[in-house]
Amino acid sequence: MSSLLVDNIGELVTNSVGAGGGGPLGLRHDAAVLVEDGLVAWVGPARDAPAADRRIDAEGAAVLPGFVDSHAHLVFAGDRAAEFAARMAGEPYTGGGIRTTVGATRAASDDELRATVGRLRGEGMRQGTTTIEIKSGYGLTVADEARSLRIAAEFTEDTTFLGAHVVPAEYADRPDDYVGLVCGPMLAAAAPYARWIDVFCERGAFDVDHARAILACGQAVGLGVRVHANQLGPGPGVRLGVELGAASVDHCTHLTDADVDALSGSPTVATLLPGAEFSTRSPYPDARRLLDAGVTVALATDCNPGSSYTSSMPFCVALAVREMRMTPAEAVWAATAGGAAALRRSDIGRLARGARADLMILDAPSYLHLAYRPGVPLIRQVLRNGVPQCRP
Ligand code: NIG
Ligand code: FE
Repeated sequence: MSSLLVDNIGELVTNSVGAGGGGPLGLRHDAAVLVEDGLVAWVGPARDAPAADRRIDAEGAAVLPGFVDSHAHLVFAGDRAAEFAARMAGEPYTGGGIRTTVGATRAASDDELRATVGRLRGEGMRQGTTTIEIKSGYGLTVADEARSLRIAAEFTEDTTFLGAHVVPAEYADRPDDYVGLVCGPMLAAAAPYARWIDVFCERGAFDVDHARAILACGQAVGLGVRVHANQLGPGPGVRLGVELGAASVDHCTHLTDADVDALSGSPTVATLLPGAEFSTRSPYPDARRLLDAGVTVALATDCNPGSSYTSSMPFCVALAVREMRMTPAEAVWAATAGGAAALRRSDIGRLARGARADLMILDAPSYLHLAYRPGVPLIRQVLRNGVPQCRP
C-alpha cells in the first residue's frame, strides 16, 4: 500500500459538512490530506499529519475536490466557428447546426473521434476536471451512436446515450420512425456502453410524448435519466424529468414557477450550463431563484462545437458568479459536489475519508480566486485517484 501526503494546505475545500465547519464547502485551514491506494485515508490539521511514503507541499495554497463536469458532448468532428461568428453578429442560436456536426462526425474515423475526445479531456483535466460525463448524439445511426459511446467509454464511466439529440435529416418527415429506431435497435446497440439516457426535449427537437417514450425505453433497460430541458424556451422538459426521477435536468434557462416548484423537494438536480448562454448570447438562467427554492444546482461545461465550445470549469464558475447570482462558494460547490449529485455519485466531489483522491491544488490561496481571477490558469496540479496528472 503506497501513501501520499498533500501537506501544508492553506485552505481546503472538503464539501464535507462537519469536517471542519466553514459552511457547505466544509472549509479547513492549515490542513493536510493523506491518500492511500487512490482514496482519501485521512483529512486533518497539518500539524497532526501522519507519515507517508511521499509528500506534496501545497505551499499554503488552496486545495479543492476535482471538478465534476457532468454534461459534455465530446464525441464529434469538425467545428462551427463560422456559426459562432454569425451569432456574435446577431444571428440567433436554434440548434440547427447540430446536423452539420452529425455529418462531420459520421464521416470521421474512430481514431479521429478518439483524438478529439482525448484532446478535450486533456484540456479539462489541466483545468481541474477529474470526472466527466460524455454524451453521444452526433452519430444518430445505430452504428454511429454505438461507436460514439464505445469511444466515450474509453474515457469515462459516465456515458450517456443521446440518440434523441435531433431528428436526423433522413428522418425529417417521419419522426415517429426515428423514435422507433432510437427505442429499438439504436438503444440495443448503445446500452452496453451507456450508463445514462438523455433527450433534447425542446421545440424543434423532441416533443414531450416522444421524450417520455424514449426515456422510458432507456429506463426499462437500466439506464438512468437525464434531460436537455428548457434551454431555448419554456416547455415541459423539466417537469418530465422530475416525473421520471431524472438524476438531472440540464440547461433550465427558461423556467416557470411550476418548474421550480417541481424541482424543489425532488431529488432531481438542476444542471446549469453558462457556457451555452455565453456562446449563444442568450440570457443566463437565474441560479439564485433555484437555490432559494432549495433546488440542488450543478454547473457543467456542455462542451460541444455548437453552443458551448469550452472545456473550462473555472470559466463556468466565474460566469455563474458574475451572471447568475451565485456566490463563489455556491458556484464551487455546484461545480464539484453538485456535479457528483447530478451523476448520483458519492465517491467524488468531496474530500473526506473513503472518497476518491481527486483534487486540485491552486496557484492561489483561496477558492475565491476561481471567480475573482477569471481567465487566469490557476490550476497548479491535479491528482486523479491519487495520481498526479500532467502539469499544465
Ligand atoms: O446542449 N441543446 C442541445 N445540444 C447541445 C448543443 C449541440 C450543438 O449545437 O451542437 C447543447 O447545447
Ligand atoms: Fe448539452
